[in-house]
Amino acid sequence: MKVLIIGRGGREHTLALKVSQSELVKEVFVAPGNVGMADVASIINIDEHDVLSLACFAEDNSIDLTIVGPESSLACGVADEFIKRGLKIFAPTKNAAQIESSKDFAKKIMAKYNIPTSDYKTFDNLNDSLLYLNTKTLPIVIKEDGLKAGKGVTVAMKKEEAIDALERAFSEPSNKVVIEDYLDGFEFSIIAICNGETIIPLEVAQDHKRVFDNDLGANTGGMGAYSPVEKIDEKIVKDTTDKILKPLLKGMINENMPFTGFLFAGVMLTNDGVKTIEFNARFGDPEAECILTRLKTDFVSVLLSVLDNKTVALDWDSRYSLGVVMASENYPESSTIGADIEIPDNIDSMIFHMGTKSENGRLQTNGGRVLCVVGLDSSLQKAKEKVYSDVKKIKSDKLFFRNDIGDKML
Ligand code: AMP
Ligand code: GLY
Repeated sequence: MKVLIIGRGGREHTLALKVSQSELVKEVFVAPGNVGMADVASIINIDEHDVLSLACFAEDNSIDLTIVGPESSLACGVADEFIKRGLKIFAPTKNAAQIESSKDFAKKIMAKYNIPTSDYKTFDNLNDSLLYLNTKTLPIVIKEDGLKAGKGVTVAMKKEEAIDALERAFSEPSNKVVIEDYLDGFEFSIIAICNGETIIPLEVAQDHKRVFDNDLGANTGGMGAYSPVEKIDEKIVKDTTDKILKPLLKGMINENMPFTGFLFAGVMLTNDGVKTIEFNARFGDPEAECILTRLKTDFVSVLLSVLDNKTVALDWDSRYSLGVVMASENYPESSTIGADIEIPDNIDSMIFHMGTKSENGRLQTNGGRVLCVVGLDSSLQKAKEKVYSDVKKIKSDKLFFRNDIGDKML
């Protein structure tokens, strides 16, 4: 088979690696990819949002299967265009991807299909949102509608923070904002491979959303992850599948927008059971780097089975994976482009490129999150030690990382 992967980050680097390891696959292409993927895929210079050029490339090169990484490509309707042309694609349509692209849509669906989540209200103007805020207790959560790369959410501990977030959101007059109740508990990510009602949940991971150690600072796309998560046992996974994932898939069919692709649920394990924090319509990043590196079953054969509405039992590496993100100095406010990075040869961990480029043969930063360093070992502690010893070998003046990835489970 020839497989095309759409996207340019660490998640797509991982997808490309897994696809390249498949016995079914002869050739892997990534558009637009990044320099780090060149040893597992051919890099194609087409933007991930240029839907027509991507579809023409797939047609002209007889691509057998396309896999989509980023939410922004889904929101551009890449799956719709491929399906229209009869091209096989593992991704949700633009309509189905609203489960991620609109917080308001997601909350409405959850309410309609009794999917456990926190109470909420949606607002289209500052005044009404401030009046509602006055009726609520703290902490409170403010979410801007629309795609924000993990950065449009404020968990406000103080009222002033909530007011600030609302004023910021409504400085763009067309914005909608969801205000929702705070959920207290242990957060985890579960991703399932889905097609209609066919579902294969993958092993669980835990992301670290805040930029600094001890969960301080702004929310980011994710600063590190590990898998499996011992605290989330089989019963909790079954509960999450039965109460959150399956009802969502049924609901989407009922709404005439059946979901095909990677369904991601951010879940809070509360005293009152599992509750949905958010849905994403794609694989998580850096969850992909930690989950897929443990999958032993042929990844492409799993996707093909699910597209054929068959489930398969998955075989997992019993070792623990842990991934640490190395980010540009001012991430998530801004990113540093063009700072040199030196990766020495004596590194045991796997390195996934999230935002890098090559300039005159030198590896450089090219985004907010730059590298994800992933190690596997027989215990989480050993995986952590291995990864951090390698992270410290990577030289760059402009990169930082969290020091406490995995600590919630250690
Ligand atoms: P989201 O983009 O909706 O996943 O929000 C980003 C992060 O904010 C989540 O991963 C949580 O850590 C936190 N968060 C979002 N909603 C809530 C909530 N209702 N209660 C507590 N924390 C939340
Ligand atoms: N790491 C969480 C996400 O991909 O949204």
